[in-house]
Amino acid sequence: LDNLPRVDTDVIVIGAGIAGLFTTLKVSETKKVLMITKKSLFDSNTRYAQGGIAAVISEDDSPEFHRQDTLIAGAGLCDSAAVDVLVHEGPQGVQELVRYGTNFDEEDGQFALTKEGAHSQRRILHANGDATGFEIVRALAEKVQNDPAVELWDDHFVIDLLTEDGECRGAIVQKPDGSRVAVFGNAIILCTGGTGQLYRYTTNPEVATGDGVAMAYRAGAIIRDMEFIQFHPTSLCYPGAPRFLISEAVRGEGAYLRNIRGERFMERYHPQLELAPRDVVARAIVSEMEATKSTYVYIDITHESPDMVRHRFPTIYEYCLQYGLDLTTDWIPVAPAAHYMMGGVRTDLYGETNIKRLFACGEASSTGVHGANRLASNSLSEAIVFGQRIVDRINELPKSSRTMKLKIDLERHTLPAGTVIERRLKLQKLMVRYAGLRRDRAGLEKGLEELKRQLPIFQTALTRREELEFINLLTCAVLTTEAALSREESRGAHFREDFPIKNDDEWRKHTTLQREQGVG
Ligand code: SIN
Repeated sequence: LDNLPRVDTDVIVIGAGIAGLFTTLKVSETKKVLMITKKSLFDSNTRYAQGGIAAVISEDDSPEFHRQDTLIAGAGLCDSAAVDVLVHEGPQGVQELVRYGTNFDEEDGQFALTKEGAHSQRRILHANGDATGFEIVRALAEKVQNDPAVELWDDHFVIDLLTEDGECRGAIVQKPDGSRVAVFGNAIILCTGGTGQLYRYTTNPEVATGDGVAMAYRAGAIIRDMEFIQFHPTSLCYPGAPRFLISEAVRGEGAYLRNIRGERFMERYHPQLELAPRDVVARAIVSEMEATKSTYVYIDITHESPDMVRHRFPTIYEYCLQYGLDLTTDWIPVAPAAHYMMGGVRTDLYGETNIKRLFACGEASSTGVHGANRLASNSLSEAIVFGQRIVDRINELPKSSRTMKLKIDLERHTLPAGTVIERRLKLQKLMVRYAGLRRDRAGLEKGLEELKRQLPIFQTALTRREELEFINLLTCAVLTTEAALSREESRGAHFREDFPIKNDDEWRKHTTLQREQGVG
């Protein structure tokens, strides 16, 4: 490290999104923060969140109802203490977002609340109809950009964490010009989001490449529950259009699902019909697609008032219109797409990992809130509730006296042009085929074998961002596939065709992976 320029700060936050923005603002009330994003403050999954943020606001609701809904969706794998934290501290977190300037939609002077799949109550706050994430990012980013205690490095890529004797002290960062710098802080918060880009079809933006999970794994962190990938049932499936999210709130406001013959089909699958848990709806859609030899089904909200639809879903309405689809008069073709990683870097109830001074927040973390399947709109709430707790813990941390002695290899190579794009695409197709919505041993073993053939790439010191991202994707693909192979049952978002039944006797437990230890 002596051969790298060095930057010292109090706290390093890696990643944008609600977790990065919120923890940055909270820490900066008392400390200097270096916030590092690999693109910009506006490139994250949060920015695209439509449905909203779940919190107990209504007098008809209670933390106990929210708790029950979360536990049921989590299919026996939620950590009940973490869920308690979420449901009790969520409303305060929402107030903090409001304090930072977020404008949630209101009705008659109260927060407007909608319903989504598997929620027993209306408890989803939203903003500008279906642009909740964008409004949160707008408000928090404005504050971050004007905060003198925050140094913001956009377009910087964090290559690896710097750890020694079980303590994290910083990271190696690649600047936009390709040069590298070592950054040191008293605490490091990973807010790097999930792994949507593991799959060919995803609602996630290009930046969702699992960087935080991969670098934490390399550093020796415990990675938990990676087999649980949530597929959102309804992403736009139309030639030439990206897999744009058609929010669950559309079904919450009364939309039907129809197969290509025009038949509503959810009554054959679940008593909660279109608002059944996401994994049930997603698999039902795939069964209907197979039965009708189609690549999509339809979502239909044409029976609701056109004014309500345009007012509640302006983003979705305008987006579909670009492709000639009118949400108020047309059935919209949709199919499932990878959406959310329930697992991640294991943390305690204060967001701390098994590596001292290393914290994880938001989708990158596994706090235990989501179990085997996340309840819709619990993710934004989780980020603010646990973000606050992380900051409380960091404020109590004594200063580290450790000085790093590591040397790193600065040798550089690149792969031939084009190779990385091809490899990424191949990995995404492989994951859809072998580690997607439905899995079995033979497929997972084949997928793992093919992924492992790519592993020699780790022997190469790589330079370009696409190459570094590919390494991280490959790491997360192996972790996801290994965890899926080990779990010989079906639970929540993990469905094994060869073990279709939930097995509480043997499998009511987490899968954990730690470097050089395999599945434990
Ligand atoms: C949606 O709007 O359907 C997504 C909400 C979520 O994933 O929590």
